[in-house]
Amino acid sequence: MKSLKWISLLVLAGMLLAACAPAASPEGEAATGEVEVFSWWTAGGEADGLAAMQEVFSAEYPNLTFVNAAVAGGAGTNARAVLATRLSAGDPPSSWQGHAGQELIGTYVAAGQIEPLNDLYDQNGWLDVMPQTLIPLISQDGNIYSVPVNIHRANVMWYNPAVLEANGATVPATWDEFLTSAETLLANGVTPLAMGEQWTSMHLLETVLLGSLGADGYAGLWDGSTDWAGPEVTAALETFQQVLTYVNSDASTLSWDQAAQLVVDGDAAFTIMGDWADGFFVSLGLTPETDFGWAPAPGTDGLFQFLSDSFVLPVNAKNPEGAIAWLTVAGSKEGQEAFNPIKGSICARTDCDPALFDAYLQSAIADWNTDTVVGSLTHGVVANDAWKSEIDTALGLFLADGDVAAFQSALATACSSSGACQ
Ligand code: GAL
Repeated sequence: MKSLKWISLLVLAGMLLAACAPAASPEGEAATGEVEVFSWWTAGGEADGLAAMQEVFSAEYPNLTFVNAAVAGGAGTNARAVLATRLSAGDPPSSWQGHAGQELIGTYVAAGQIEPLNDLYDQNGWLDVMPQTLIPLISQDGNIYSVPVNIHRANVMWYNPAVLEANGATVPATWDEFLTSAETLLANGVTPLAMGEQWTSMHLLETVLLGSLGADGYAGLWDGSTDWAGPEVTAALETFQQVLTYVNSDASTLSWDQAAQLVVDGDAAFTIMGDWADGFFVSLGLTPETDFGWAPAPGTDGLFQFLSDSFVLPVNAKNPEGAIAWLTVAGSKEGQEAFNPIKGSICARTDCDPALFDAYLQSAIADWNTDTVVGSLTHGVVANDAWKSEIDTALGLFLADGDVAAFQSALATACSSSGACQ
């Protein structure tokens, strides 16, 4: 993977002249009417990033009207239900946000809901500027099905430096270290780990699995080479269970940003969240390194658990020229440079100017280029919707009953029913 990235960088170096500011797509220039862009970017940072990319779009295509069809709810939990209803009613938006990986291939491509975009890739020279590691995750049978706008990192532990200092706590490199500081924090009346509604606990689970199993062991969960019923997974689930005893008691009622706010307010010391949290913190006027700190989630130093937001062209899209205009901006250097520094993500493109990014995002750019990369479960990379939803059901039961053995057995069954484990 690393060497592929280097090859793509070398190719890029030779193609700098072609790495252009966006030229308005010929179809889009003539297009008029509304372009309805569907996402779940409504919180601080993510909504601002979308607005910044919309500005680029509106300047480039003044005859098109951007309609923001965002549906609130982190990780798309609500939005994707609304989208499914619209798709079954034959009413797709002009373009929607989908995660690179199994969410895209195992759901929308499998259902024949989106169009290949190979011509758009050719016209814009995107194969020369998108990471080679990403293309297989958005392709099937030689067709490329989406335009990635960013790379996010899931395995980040965010913290409030002042709270750590006041409590004599340090940033844990392992979950054992976390459990030790958690006791002190709790005794001092500070919530050790802020968490929100159920999807944020799946997000925590995937980072614990990665920290416990390592890159190969974690990757093996998704191709059947790691035994879900084995002792390594038992140990990871036991750690997960222990960690959960240190989260805020109102977790199930909080959105991801409300959980992150507990850290901002000093009510909690840590939270595990994707790096859209950087966008959220910065939207509050906070400064990375001073007002908030970060580290790889415990046990995941050197590992980059990634996901990528991308946009698609629906089959039977209303205003397809307008949709292609949006996709052209989403894949452009100008669009990505406007969006990502505010969103709290790094560009999918390899040619964005790192100087535009804050200290956290510059660290993410460096890590993306050197770390071992694995995919996120919660954000669509490694499991299709059917498998993920079976895991989610098992997780919901576990959060209620705390039965590790039953949870592990349900996870093993989910892998079998997905077809990955025979
Ligand atoms: C993820 C998405 C991110 C961010 C986050 C919280 O699924 O990829 O872009 O929006 O949800 O809403």
